[in-house]
Amino acid sequence: MAAKREHFGGRSAAILALAGSAIGLGNIWRFPYMVGQTGGAAFIIIYLLSCLLLSLPIFLAEAIIGHRTHAGTFGAMEQLAPGTKWKWLGLLTVLSPLVILSYYSVVGGWSVCYLWQSLTAGFHLGEIGAVSSAFGGFISKPGAPLLCHTLFLLGCAVIVSAGVKSGIEKFNKVTMPLLFVLIVVIMVYSISLPGASAGVEYLLRPDFSKITPSAVAAAMGQSFFSLSLGVGTILTYASYIRKDENILFTGLGTVGFDLLFALMAGFAIMPAVFAAGIEPGAGPGLIFETLPYIFAKMGASAPWVSAGVAVLFFLTIVFAAFTSAISMYEVGVAYLVEQKGFSRPKAVILIFVGCWILGALCSLSFGPLAGMKIFGLTIFSFCDTLTSNFLMTFGGLLFVIFVGWKMDKAVVRDEFTAGGASRFNCAVFDAFWFLLRYAAPLAIVIIFLTNFFA
Ligand code: TRP
Repeated sequence: MAAKREHFGGRSAAILALAGSAIGLGNIWRFPYMVGQTGGAAFIIIYLLSCLLLSLPIFLAEAIIGHRTHAGTFGAMEQLAPGTKWKWLGLLTVLSPLVILSYYSVVGGWSVCYLWQSLTAGFHLGEIGAVSSAFGGFISKPGAPLLCHTLFLLGCAVIVSAGVKSGIEKFNKVTMPLLFVLIVVIMVYSISLPGASAGVEYLLRPDFSKITPSAVAAAMGQSFFSLSLGVGTILTYASYIRKDENILFTGLGTVGFDLLFALMAGFAIMPAVFAAGIEPGAGPGLIFETLPYIFAKMGASAPWVSAGVAVLFFLTIVFAAFTSAISMYEVGVAYLVEQKGFSRPKAVILIFVGCWILGALCSLSFGPLAGMKIFGLTIFSFCDTLTSNFLMTFGGLLFVIFVGWKMDKAVVRDEFTAGGASRFNCAVFDAFWFLLRYAAPLAIVIIFLTNFFA
């Protein structure tokens, strides 16, 4: 089985794929609104620190397991801790990405709809409240959101069915550079708007009184979500990285790109929000409610420019969501193919059916199924809260405990230092080991408790 496993073409392909998984709605949708809600520059500083001191070590822990075993989550646990309860971690991490995929595909579908709207009818000026209720009206009707969810998931199925090298790697090779070009264009435009400098200042001048414990927990949680940690995606992708690659450099590259993209998304959105004279703390509705209003407002004086920017913007979101969604899809496919002996097409179809049904329930929970509650939450919020607040952090905790406390230190060092070949990696191994064994588990428990009680 091992001999047949596909590999990414090289380091750049591996970083592109990992960055493709990491860069997604988390960067363009979640990061900017969290910055807006949690105090601008101060939040960004804590976020930078959490990425480097918390998320990078967790990322490396997952990557080390995948790279060592060259197996998917379940197979990796079977190899490293055969016959133990750790196999449940393998199973958990097969299921959580599929739950994320189901509701992620719903939001991906909304982006497809908004892209369609910006290509055809455009956005029309009303009160900002009217634009928000247009969004509320749109997601509560069953038809269009369900259709777009289907299209989005189908797109993922097509890419994943083509395989790791000719599907996922090729798609990322084209879309990832394009994403960076698109976001730079939007950012330059946004910063050039009259009145945008207040937004730039907001992102650069920290107000340290905003650093509260819940802001710290939110920043740590966001860095977790943005790097797709704790659900076995990084593990699975790392298992496709060639044996002689340097895992630390791959990790640094991925974290660096993910951070850069989140910051650029912040600089693409906040200056425009300030230029339009809107409150930055709008929350999760920021890109689907506030931005269409801004596009409509710009459209009154420069309709073509506004329509063009709107198309570029929603195109960016759709592509970014795609590259993340296919990484979640691949985790399930790898499991069914390697552990259950399915053919790739069969695995792709089975996952499509399962995620389509759960996603459809999530989508309908904004309308006809709004009354159906699980622990007081709608189906969509339940899937989101369950995965983002609990399964991802729990999975991350188990991964760091596994690598830091269960795996042989010599094996971890061997993976981390590329068999001792990298002098730089050898020099920083002790710092990594400390962060992994003590700092990361403690930080995760803090996020977990804050999520639970806040
Ligand atoms: N990192 C992705 C983003 O920023 C979201 C995400 C969360 C994810 N968990 C994941 C992606 C698991 C792939 C796998 O949008």
